[in-house]
Order: sequence, then C-alpha cells, then structure tokens
Amino acid sequence: MTMTLQIDKVRIHVTDLSGSDREIEGEIGNSLMEIIRGSGIDDIPAFCGGSCSCASCHVHIDPDFASLLPAMAEDEFDVLEGAAHRIEGSRLSCQVQASSEMNGMRVSIAPQE
Ligand code: FES
Repeated sequence: MTMTLQIDKVRIHVTDLSGSDREIEGEIGNSLMEIIRGSGIDDIPAFCGGSCSCASCHVHIDPDFASLLPAMAEDEFDVLEGAAHRIEGSRLSCQVQASSEMNGMRVSIAPQE
C-alpha cells in the first residue's frame, strides 16, 4: 500500500511593489515572509533573517483578514511602531505563521523605508 504525504497548504494573494497581483501557495506553519520569498517575489529583503528587528518584511494585511491573525507580540509592535507606511493592517510578515484560516487572504508588500 502506498501512503501519500499530505502537506497542508494555504493560498494567498500578494500585491508586490510594482502593483502586480499574484496568487501564491505556501505551507501552513511557515511564516508569510518565507512563503512570499519562496514564491519568487523578491520585494522582501528580510535583512534580519526573520528575527523581528529590521521591518524590511513589512506587509499590509487586508482588513477582512487582519482580525484572523494572531495578535502582535510586543517586539513586533515595537519594530513596527517606527516603520514608515504603517497602517491599521500592518504586520511583520516574518512574525505571522500561515494557517488554514488565511486561505484567500490578500496581502500587499509595504514600500521599503
Ligand atoms: S525579516 Fe526582519 S523584521 Fe521580519
């Protein structure tokens, strides 16, 4: 008998810095930063490698989905506090783990500082 390994995936829509919209797929449990970069979109430099200290992974989450995300930890809040282009749905994509509730979520990459 052959077993097929099912890896749960999530699909999200990403607007890059040129304004292009793409639907991408990533593994649940990975960070949005990893999923976006892994899809070939290179607008997120992730200078700190995902350690919540650079804000170069800043994204804007569609308001319809923002409430589905886990609450921000204090260090994410602190880093975003000084970020330009901060809006209500701002998050650091390295601090947001993909979950099945995020299927169909719209995310825009925030302009770099
Ligand atoms: S990659 Fe640096 S804060 Fe997210």
